[in-house]
Amino acid sequence: MSSKNTYILGIESSCDDTAAAILCNGKVLSNVVANQAIHEKYGGVVPELASRAHQQNIVPVVDQAIKQAGITLEDLSAVAFTQGPGLMGSLLVGTSFAKSLAYGLNIPLIDVNHMQAHILAHFIEKEGSEKPAFPFLAMTISGGHTQIVRVDDYFKMTVIGETIDDAVGEAFDKSGKILGLGYPAGPEIDKRAKLGNPKAFKFTKPQVAGLNFSFSGLKTAVLYFVQKKLKENPQFVNENLNDVCASIQYTIVEILMDKLKIAVKETGINRIAIGGGVSANSGVRDALKEAENSHGWASFIPPFEFTTDNAAMIAIVGHLKYLNKEYANQTVMATARLKL
Ligand code: KG4
Ligand code: ZN
Repeated sequence: MSSKNTYILGIESSCDDTAAAILCNGKVLSNVVANQAIHEKYGGVVPELASRAHQQNIVPVVDQAIKQAGITLEDLSAVAFTQGPGLMGSLLVGTSFAKSLAYGLNIPLIDVNHMQAHILAHFIEKEGSEKPAFPFLAMTISGGHTQIVRVDDYFKMTVIGETIDDAVGEAFDKSGKILGLGYPAGPEIDKRAKLGNPKAFKFTKPQVAGLNFSFSGLKTAVLYFVQKKLKENPQFVNENLNDVCASIQYTIVEILMDKLKIAVKETGINRIAIGGGVSANSGVRDALKEAENSHGWASFIPPFEFTTDNAAMIAIVGHLKYLNKEYANQTVMATARLKL
């Protein structure tokens, strides 16, 4: 292989997905994710089970990423890994593995902030995909995160709003659980929402100052609403599921869009880049398209494989830091509450 090429291995293990990816000069050669089905029957991620599953998955996942990329370990320029934020037991598996591998191969080790990675996923080299120009606003929405970030440069980011309790994905998943849907419920709610009436039922939106979010009240509102309706009609959920899903999704999308509108007004920036599992939501996508037409915004949505938790986004941050020679040393530690 040519020595001019930069091959970065990215490793992600912050939550319940064990992932490894290889990027060559910022382009994806492989992007492998092992999902942990074990959590489905518990209706949420069980940290202790997650770290055990990472332990089992990490070697085969990295091995597969290397093989699919058609390279060998000796071709690697550096190893990038998620330092945090995330679940401590999960982070420890990826961190320890990355440290050992970089040490063994005698190549640079690069620590990556998972939240930065969700944002910089927009810079993975891909034909036909447009990158947002700086400055832009990034909204990271998933089962673990809800943030609005002002991005002035690759590594100059400021959190301007975030959730004070549940993440937006939890609002989908916990509402779905109340309705008897499987975990994670977001995709199912989205599917059913397309068949229902978004104005059928009204859920009050939380009043949170500034750009912060709150989603825990919505889950409680859905619970009380469903309990009340079931008392009147035991078949209520079965008979109205699509309308209930459409109404919940409509409320969530409104909450997100209300804050984005304030953020655009306050910053004067109307380029919006979204990331995280909830960016797959059709209601969110439609609302952004609508805002492009009616408010002149530009929106950026990465391909699904780069927007849910994945290692290609870790590797792209690794690539950018590698170009700056920003390396970690062997004393680096997994940090559960790592800030942006
Ligand atoms: O980014 P991700 O895979 O993992 C983290 O949580 O970090 O996001 C998973 C979340 C779950 O809460 C899931 O319900 C939600 O993303 N999700 C969706 C959709 N697809 C995934 N929520 C609403 N609509 C969707 N289409
Ligand atoms: Zn994430």
